[in-house]
Amino acid sequence: MAYEHGNGYTALADTCEMVACADIVEENAREYAETFGIGKTYLDYNDMLAQENLDVVSVCTWMHLHEPMVLAAVAAGVRAIHCEKPMADTWGGSKRMAAAAKEGGVQLTFNHQRRYGAPYVLAKKMLDEGALGDLVRQECECGNIYDSGTHFIDMFSFFQGEVPAKWVIAQIDYRTENLVFGGHCENQQVLLTEFAPRTPYDNGVFGLVMTGAGEAKPVGAINRLLGTDGVIEVGLADGRPIRYRLQGEKDWTYPDTNGESIHGPHFIERAIADVVACLLEGRKCQLDASNALIATEIIFGAYESSRRRGRVDFPLDIEDNPLKAMVDSGDLKLTKAE
Ligand SMILES: NC(=O)c1ccc[n+]([C@@H]2O[C@H](COP(=O)([O-])OP(=O)(O)OC[C@H]3O[C@@H](n4cnc5c(N)ncnc54)[C@H](O)[C@@H]3O)[C@@H](O)[C@H]2O)c1
Repeated sequence: MAYEHGNGYTALADTCEMVACADIVEENAREYAETFGIGKTYLDYNDMLAQENLDVVSVCTWMHLHEPMVLAAVAAGVRAIHCEKPMADTWGGSKRMAAAAKEGGVQLTFNHQRRYGAPYVLAKKMLDEGALGDLVRQECECGNIYDSGTHFIDMFSFFQGEVPAKWVIAQIDYRTENLVFGGHCENQQVLLTEFAPRTPYDNGVFGLVMTGAGEAKPVGAINRLLGTDGVIEVGLADGRPIRYRLQGEKDWTYPDTNGESIHGPHFIERAIADVVACLLEGRKCQLDASNALIATEIIFGAYESSRRRGRVDFPLDIEDNPLKAMVDSGDLKLTKAE
């Protein structure tokens, strides 16, 4: 991902200069520096933060390193941090990062780059223009809620204007170890959540998330928006990016997305361009930590619901990662993947 971020900054040559990089593997740091013409490399990111006078830092390591790296960058006095998803390896860590950045006046954003992709932007435009009537429910289907799900649950917030959820009820199945970027991810899961009303006059939208069902496709699309007057699906099972069917229509319409799938191209470049523009213009970025916390609370809340065997009301009052805790305590007994 560091290379994706690097391409984003390179495209902003008028405003950004990449001056230093840090990687514990010397060869990785050297190759990266050569690729982007960077003058200084470090093996310890703390040395880099102490010796360089950085405005913007990208954090592109695995999730257990996001919190210490973000906190160190805030303490070093940088102006903006763009960090990879998922936010952190615990709910407490996610909140600490957001709080530290806010207190330090640092712009902290997370790379939920699909917010800049044509299929998602088009679906939101249709929703905002009223094509679906009132939004009633959002649905999502993906591999797991923690690694890939952070993107697609974040789309719930994107579509409905960043309102937080009120509660979550979920159950997981985790029997075969599944470590993604070092973090445990469930094998299968079902989750229902209710969002706060967006205005005093409407009802909260419900969110339904199914993960890990393999070939079975209980939802049938990565994201689905159901309104009183129609349906939009983004990320279809056959690989096509988007389709919709409005009230009274028998057939689906497959709009043109100019060759963009739900994965790209150019989403991350656009995300980085917006991150930098927001910093320069003093605007709140839609990738802001406060927005990322909405999806993250649902994700850790779902694992907590599984641990408590019940509904979890928000604000989520835990600090740890309930899935990891259940593995560590022996509550969940895993077999190793073959
Ligand atoms: N936004 C997306 O669509 C997307 C896609 C894939 C991965 N990711 C996320 O990006 C993050 C990184 O994934 P990746 O595929 O680039 O991983 P990677 O393993 O390819 O790269 C990680 C790099 O971090 C270095 N590293 C490890 N410990 C370090 C330390 N203490 N200090 C400095 N460098 C250190 C490694 O040597 C390696 O070069 C993960 O959080 C992952 O979830 C996001």
